[in-house]
Amino acid sequence: MAERKIIDVMEGKSISPPPIWVMRQAGRYLPEYRELRKSAKSFLDFCYTPSMAVEATMQPIRRYDFDAAILFSDILVMPDALGRDVHFVTGEGPRMTPLAEGDVDRLTTENVLPHLAPVFETVSTLRNNLPEKTTLLGFCGAPWTVATYMIAGRGTNDQAPSRLFMYKQPQELAKLLDILADASAEYLIAQLDAGADAVKIFDSWSGVLDEFSFEMNCIAPVRRIVDKVRAARPGAKIIAFPKGAGHFYRGYREKTGVDMIALDWTIPLSFAAELQKEGPVQGNLDPLRVVAGKSSIVEGVDRIMDALASGPFVFNLGHGITPDGNPDDMDYLVRYVRGENAS
Ligand code: CP3
Repeated sequence: MAERKIIDVMEGKSISPPPIWVMRQAGRYLPEYRELRKSAKSFLDFCYTPSMAVEATMQPIRRYDFDAAILFSDILVMPDALGRDVHFVTGEGPRMTPLAEGDVDRLTTENVLPHLAPVFETVSTLRNNLPEKTTLLGFCGAPWTVATYMIAGRGTNDQAPSRLFMYKQPQELAKLLDILADASAEYLIAQLDAGADAVKIFDSWSGVLDEFSFEMNCIAPVRRIVDKVRAARPGAKIIAFPKGAGHFYRGYREKTGVDMIALDWTIPLSFAAELQKEGPVQGNLDPLRVVAGKSSIVEGVDRIMDALASGPFVFNLGHGITPDGNPDDMDYLVRYVRGENAS
C-alpha cells in the first residue's frame, strides 16, 4: 500500500510538514459544492446518491490535494436509518420529531445497514478514485451527540432537553446510547470493509456535560464502539473528536481506546502538547481564522506548529470550516502549513 501519511501519524510517527485536512472540507464555502447541491432533491438524497456524494468528497481533494478525504455524508443518517423522520431545513439545520415515550423501543435496528448501503457504495467508489496517497476517512456521530438531535428534534445551544432527559430518564438514555453505539459500530465496520482507511467519531456536543455524565455518556459509548469495531477488525484506525471536552480531554484517548484525538480550538497549546505525549493529536486552528484572512492564519498556524509539529500531528481546524470561509485563504492555509511559500 502506498504511504498514507495520516495513517502513519496515527501509528505514532512524526511527519514534517504535518499532513493536513479540514473538517467540513466539502461544503458551502466552495462554489462548486453550492452548484452541485442545487441538483439534489434534499440534503439526505445528496448523501444517499453515491455519484453526488463521491463528487462532493472529491471537490476539496482536487482543489487542495488534502492528505485525507472525508466521506461526504452526515452523522444524522443514523437516526434516519433507525426510522426517525430526519430532514434538513435549508439555512437552519436538521429537524426530526423529538423522541416520545416508547420511541426508543421502536427504533428499526434491523434496517440500519441495508438503509445505509449507498454510503458503502460511495466509500468503495472513493477508494478506487482517490490518489493512492490520500487517506480515506469514514465517520459516524458519537452516541451522545446523535442522541441530542433525536431527543430535542433539532440542534440547541446547550442541549438542555437532552440533559434533562438524562437526569429524568437515565435508563431510557442508556438504552438509546447502547442502540446507537451498536448500530454505529456495525456502520463503521461496514465503512472499513468498503475501503475506509480510518474512521472518525464526532462527539460535537460532549462539552455540555458534568464529570460523571461525561464518563457515562461520552466515554463509555465511544469505548463500546471502539471495542466492537476492534473485536471485528483488529487494528482498525479510529479518531475521536470530543468537542468542547476541555479538561476531560485528559485521559480520553486511553479511556476510549482511540488512536488519535481531534482537538477543538479552545484547547491551550501547552495542554495539547501534554496530550500529544500520550499519543497523536489533530487540530486545532479556529475556523474563523480562515474567514478573517491571511495574517490571522499565519499567526494561528505558527503557534500551533511551534507547539505540536515536532510530534505525531495532523494539522486541522478546531471545528468545521464555516460557509463564509474563503476558498483562496484555505489554499493559502494549506500551502503555508506545507511550507510552500504562499504569497
Ligand atoms: O466535509 C465533511 O466534513 C464531510 C461531510 C460532513 C457533513 N456533516 C456535511 C454537512 C460531516 C463529517 C458532517 C458531520 C456532522 N453533521 C456533525 C459533526 C461535526 C460538527 O460539525 O460538529 C454534526 C453535528 C452534524 C449535524 C449537522 N449537519 C448540522 C447541525 C447541520 C446544519 C448546520 C450546518 O452546518 O449546515 C448539518 C448539515 C450539513 N452537513 C451540511 C453539510 C455540508 C450543510 C447542509 C447543506 O449543504 O445544505
